[in-house]
Amino acid sequence: MVGRCFVCKLYLLVLAIVVLSSLYSSWQLQKLPPAFLNKPLTPKAKTHLLIISTWRSGSSFLGQLFNHSPDVFYLLEPTRAVWFSMAEKSPYFLHTPVRELVRSIFRCDMQAFLPYMPKGKFISELFGWHESRALCSPKTCSSMPPSDIIDRPECNRTCRQVPFEKMEEACKAHSHVVVKEVRFLDLEALYPLLRDPHLNLKIIHLVRDPRAIVSSRESFLELEVDDAIISNAQKATPNISVVMQEICGAQQRMYQTALRDPPPLLKDRYIMVRYEDLVKDPLGHLRTWYKYIGLSMPSKLQSWIYNITHGSGPKDKGFMPFTGDSLKIAQHWRDRLEFKKVQRLQDVCKQEMAMFGYRLVENEAEQKDMSLGLVLPMKPKSRL
Ligand SMILES: *[C@@H]1O[C@H](CO)[C@@H](O)[C@H](O)[C@H]1NC(C)=O
Ligand SMILES: *[C@@H]1O[C@H](CO)[C@@H](O)[C@H](O)[C@H]1NC(C)=O
Ligand SMILES: *[C@@H]1O[C@H](CO)[C@@H](O)[C@H](O)[C@H]1NC(C)=O
Repeated sequence: MVGRCFVCKLYLLVLAIVVLSSLYSSWQLQKLPPAFLNKPLTPKAKTHLLIISTWRSGSSFLGQLFNHSPDVFYLLEPTRAVWFSMAEKSPYFLHTPVRELVRSIFRCDMQAFLPYMPKGKFISELFGWHESRALCSPKTCSSMPPSDIIDRPECNRTCRQVPFEKMEEACKAHSHVVVKEVRFLDLEALYPLLRDPHLNLKIIHLVRDPRAIVSSRESFLELEVDDAIISNAQKATPNISVVMQEICGAQQRMYQTALRDPPPLLKDRYIMVRYEDLVKDPLGHLRTWYKYIGLSMPSKLQSWIYNITHGSGPKDKGFMPFTGDSLKIAQHWRDRLEFKKVQRLQDVCKQEMAMFGYRLVENEAEQKDMSLGLVLPMKPKSRL
């Protein structure tokens, strides 16, 4: 009968197509990530904080202020490996791989590191790993003694053989993931992260007087590769003018984007802070920021932060790049930097300096006159 009935054949064919296509689409649906099935995010979803800045701006200090919260999994400059593996590229070309690595870290997907690791065996293959409290705490490295404040040199000595897989566990065990980065030169490069339904991203943008940055760079000799990459943006041979022009331009552009024409997705997700304001009142800033990302601040942490920013308290545990009176450190450049260099730099960075309220000096006398304040008050427009 089937052989004779054309309508029946047609009917069977249509039926087969309907069944097959519904099977196919349910199979496809299973392959999709959960966000596309409109599943709400779990209430326990993490909060992510990205600290963006440039080299020698005090961002390691700022990172440490979050690193020591027991709820925070912290990494410093994880994308250094990306830059170092593609050193012939420009920083703008590298934005995408840098951002994608940061995205993976925020999602605790540490496999994303593997292409950049020589062996992929130990956490200690990663730059700066022993700066992270979470990676030095007894839960990750059983040879570490339990303590509120980690002992970094001890961690560097005893935790070198912790298997790389432990990093994912450590990340997943914390409610907050904080990453400090100096390799973003445009805010737009971060929009895909702000749109990602799996992330709850907040940004703190730290800026510093470029004269202090250059002064600090002079006593820090490890920036050759980074400077070459930055100079690739202008296809130029690296020199301090080229590098600072890119850096000042980037800080200015990022703030301008956030301030002038912020896309709705940046609302309540961006804070700008000047290093000079931060060191005047680190605890005050930190209280605001801990609220901003939903962290509580144990009193021990407050006491420790007070100590490291006032040069008081026990000077052990290798935390001491930040000791000493932070306020004085912020002014060191005025003694140290040659006026000729100051002049050249002011020329290159004057737009950025005007935007962030850093007053230019006209001559050497002004530079050395400490009664002359060079950090002008800024309108409190930094929070959107
Ligand atoms: C960490 O340990 C390695 C190997 O012992 C050493 O080369 C390096 O300088 C140490 N780093 C710090 C910051 O202590
Ligand atoms: C730095 O390089 C730029 C571009 O190559 C050049 O115009 C400038 O004169 C150089 N400046 C210094 C201080 O060498
Ligand atoms: C801060 O310093 C004081 C005075 O030296 C000390 O008693 C206190 O234990 C320190 N706090 C922390 C958390 O290290």
